[in-house]
Amino acid sequence: MNLLCVAAGIAAVVAWSHQVLAASEPPPGAASCSGCHSPEATAASPVVRLYGRDAGAIATAMAGFRDGSLPATVMARIAKGFSDDESRAIAAWLAAQK
Ligand code: HEC
Repeated sequence: MNLLCVAAGIAAVVAWSHQVLAASEPPPGAASCSGCHSPEATAASPVVRLYGRDAGAIATAMAGFRDGSLPATVMARIAKGFSDDESRAIAAWLAAQK
């Protein structure tokens, strides 16, 4: 085995582990939700928890807040800051959290 093969092998492993890490990082905007929607399962908060909820339900609610079909105090304004794709990425990430 020559040195080039070893280097390529190491590069492949590094690239792979980086992908795994990146997959668990929140997409843009997702971290901002936790200021109101507590990540803590035990928190006494009137705002629903989003971690572990169905991704489709979160994305649908975001779309409803955006187009005004869902009544909201603050979420209409927040949802307008995100595109459909961004909302879906955030929803998928939130749904994957424990
Ligand atoms: C400023 C506080 C605040 C922030 C920040 C916030 N939310 Fe909300 N969220 C609320 C409140 C309050 C409600 C209840 C509806 C309303 O009054 O707007 C709500 C409701 C929701 C709902 C509907 C839940 C249900 O089943 O009734 C979803 C989904 C949601 N938020 C997603 C998000 C996402 C995704 C983010 C981050 C991009 C986010 N929220 C950021 C306060 C917030």
